[in-house]
This record gives sequence, structure tokens and C-alpha cells, in this order.
Amino acid sequence: MTDIERILVAGASGGTGSEILDLLADADLEVRALTHSPEKERDLNERGADEVVVGDLLDRDDAARAVAGCDAVLCAVGTQSARRMLVGDLVDGEGVENLVNAAVAADVERFVMESSLGVGDSREQMPTPFRLVIRRVLQAKNRAEAALRTSGVSHTILRPGGLTDAPPTGDVLVGEGGATVSGSIPRADVARLMVAAPFTPESENRTFEVVSRDGLRGRARGLVELDWRSPTETSIAVEESNGESPAESAGETAGE
Ligand SMILES: NC(=O)c1ccc[n+]([C@@H]2O[C@H](COP(=O)([O-])OP(=O)(O)OC[C@H]3O[C@@H](n4cnc5c(N)ncnc54)[C@H](OP(=O)(O)O)[C@@H]3O)[C@@H](O)[C@H]2O)c1
Repeated sequence: MTDIERILVAGASGGTGSEILDLLADADLEVRALTHSPEKERDLNERGADEVVVGDLLDRDDAARAVAGCDAVLCAVGTQSARRMLVGDLVDGEGVENLVNAAVAADVERFVMESSLGVGDSREQMPTPFRLVIRRVLQAKNRAEAALRTSGVSHTILRPGGLTDAPPTGDVLVGEGGATVSGSIPRADVARLMVAAPFTPESENRTFEVVSRDGLRGRARGLVELDWRSPTETSIAVEESNGESPAESAGETAGE
């Protein structure tokens, strides 16, 4: 068992963050939501956050304020403006690094980061044209991943494929090792894994690539099976590796 009582959800107003808030509404945990948009404070309270902190992760003091007194961090922040993707500091890089440093200083027990396929050794899992367009964001996320790995905080990094707003499938393919899976996944499925990670000892200090089974593109390699332990009742199915994609295992050809 963990001693996690209070969780910070960074990016709580975003697509994945909102799904996380919905899941945590059923858990016996104190939930603090972070937004850098003051006008969203009320919405976040109405969505079930026990507490809302308004702050910008690009500001170190705000990052420290956000995480103070929390036992775990679920970080689902990301750059939303196309202009910002081209110029200036990125929350995906500097912002997450500030949060990691603040988490170290605050003795946070567990840090879960939503990164992306296309980062680091998962480079080839994102189609090249898209990778080129968001190159700065991917580089920033790569730096943030590295900062988290060397921070000393117990962590899990999830690299989802293309995010959709479809309902959760509860059927996720989890790869480990970079060149594993490619495709898409509902934000709601990613949220389930993020919520479960702090309560899943097996996920500690590991980096996973994730897509939903029905979002898989091409062949899957390096699949791993974990006993995800959600603090809510939601069950999470994952596919064990046999070196083949599920479609191939069933004698079908996985389409590109
Ligand atoms: N789109 C895709 O297909 C895709 C694929 C793989 C991975 N990802 C990654 O997955 C993550 C989640 O994506 P999403 O689409 O679910 O999220 P999203 O809807 O884009 O939400 C991003 C969140 O980041 C917060 N944020 C941005 N700048 C901030 C700052 N300076 N300080 C504090 N918070 C800040 C925003 O909060 P406020 O506006 O409330 O301040 C917002 O809630 C991102 O890291 C994204 O890059 C995306």
C-alpha cells in the first residue's frame, strides 16, 4: 500500500486532465487541481477538485506552491497554442522540469508524466511529417523525461499515441522499450493508467508507450503486462507480449 492522500493534477482543465478528475471523484483522495487560467477555477471545483491552485508552471514559485503538501503528481500539461510551439519556453519542457524540481523539494512520493509517442527512443512511432511539425515540443518533452528519470522521485512516464476524445476502451496495449506500438488512444484510457500508476508498484521508474487495441497501427512489439491497481473500481485490461500484435496473433493482418 502507498501513503498517498493528496494528489496534484497538473493540466486538470485539459482533455486528459478532465478525465483524471472524473476518475478521482470516486477515490478516497484529496485532489488539488492546477490551472494557469483563473477563469477555469470554478469549473474545476464543480468537476470535483477539492482545491484549485492558479499558477503558471513556467514560474518556479508557482510550481512550488502547486505541489506543496502533495504526495503524488499526475502531470498532463501540454502546449496548446500553435504559435507557442514555434517560439518561447514550453510548459512541456521548462514547465514540467520546474514541477519535477518542486516535487523533489517537497518530498513527493510518486510522479506520473504524460509524455508522447515520438519522444526519445519512441521517435519512429510517430509519423515523420507530424514529428517535424511539433519537433520543439518533442524535444522539450524529451528533456523533461530525462529530468524526471534523474530526479530521484519514483515515477512513471506514459507516452500515448494520438489522443482522441472517444469513450474509454479499457483495453490498452502497453509497450516498453521505445519502438513498440504506434497508433491512437482515447484520453480516457490514458487517464485510467495515470490514476493507477501511483498505486501500481510494478510501474515504478518505467517508461511505457500506450495505444488502445483498436487504435493500434501496424505491428506491436515489446508489450508488457502489468497488474494496474486503480484506487477506483475501474478495471484496466492490457495485452501480454508474445512478440506479435493482437491482430496477428488472431491470424489477421494489422493494417497500416
Ligand atoms: N494531442 C495528441 O494527440 C497528443 C498525443 C500524445 C501526447 N500528447 C500530450 O498529452 C498531454 C495531454 O494532452 P491533452 O490534449 O489531453 O491536454 P490539453 O487539453 O492540451 O491540456 C493541456 C493542459 O496544460 C495546461 N497548461 C498549459 N500551459 C500551462 C502552464 N504554463 N502552467 C500550467 N498549466 C498549463 C492547461 O491548463 P490551463 O489552460 O487550465 O491553464 C491545460 O489544462 C500533453 O502533454 C500533450 O502534449 C498529446
